[in-house]
Amino acid sequence: MAENNLVIKNGIRHVAIIMDGNGRWAKQRGLSRIEGHKAGAKAIEKVLKAADKHSIEYITLYAFSTENWKRPKNEVTGLMGLLKEFLEINTKILHEKETRLRAIGRISDLPFSTRQVLDKSINDTSQYTKRQLILALSYGGRAEIIDGVKKIAEDYKNGKIKEKNINEELFRNYLYAPDIPDPELMIRTSGEFRLSNFLLWQLSYSEFYITETLWPDFDENEFTKAIESYYLRNRRYGGV
Ligand code: FPP
Repeated sequence: MAENNLVIKNGIRHVAIIMDGNGRWAKQRGLSRIEGHKAGAKAIEKVLKAADKHSIEYITLYAFSTENWKRPKNEVTGLMGLLKEFLEINTKILHEKETRLRAIGRISDLPFSTRQVLDKSINDTSQYTKRQLILALSYGGRAEIIDGVKKIAEDYKNGKIKEKNINEELFRNYLYAPDIPDPELMIRTSGEFRLSNFLLWQLSYSEFYITETLWPDFDENEFTKAIESYYLRNRRYGGV
């Protein structure tokens, strides 16, 4: 096959998204920050539909970071409430689209009532294999690596693994969701060029798409633009 710098052969299986700009969106409209997050939750519904149309198998959303606990108490409580509401509204759509819900992060940090709703949606959709929606909750890329290292230390101590066998392939098995392929594409809204502790291990070779659009305004059309931009890039994985 002829080399063509504009056309890549790999399809997209996994898109990871940093949903940024809810606060600015609300401020521009004189609304509370939580109103911005509410609009952000609506945008997720649009993106899930768009992802389905593009046959994307995995969508990972950065819904709450390990650093987000530092936000004012009412914003944290509001976000936890919104998460429950989001799951109650969207579990029906997950069933319709045969989508399995998963969560990555330090899930035990979440309030009990939030975990209950989350666990229920995760269990109720666990039979689906076609698509997966992964919510990163109380998630930090560094925390994930540290949690992995602790589990490796434990297995080493118990004689389950040998030092000579510790390599990238083995380490992957200690991540929160080792079976999920790395994202081909990472989208960040609201124009910030930062990784903000998101999927540090998994995004090593991913393409980044940054848009000025604030998350609540992100829709099917924007999602399609991001996918099209990916297909115009040439991925070399450090080769030539
Ligand atoms: C960043 O906006 C967004 C978040 C911290 C959380 C993302 C949450 C949602 C999209 C809504 C809730 C969704 C679920 C699934 C619960 P920001 O507040 O940092 O925006 P800013 O940078 O403009 O202040």
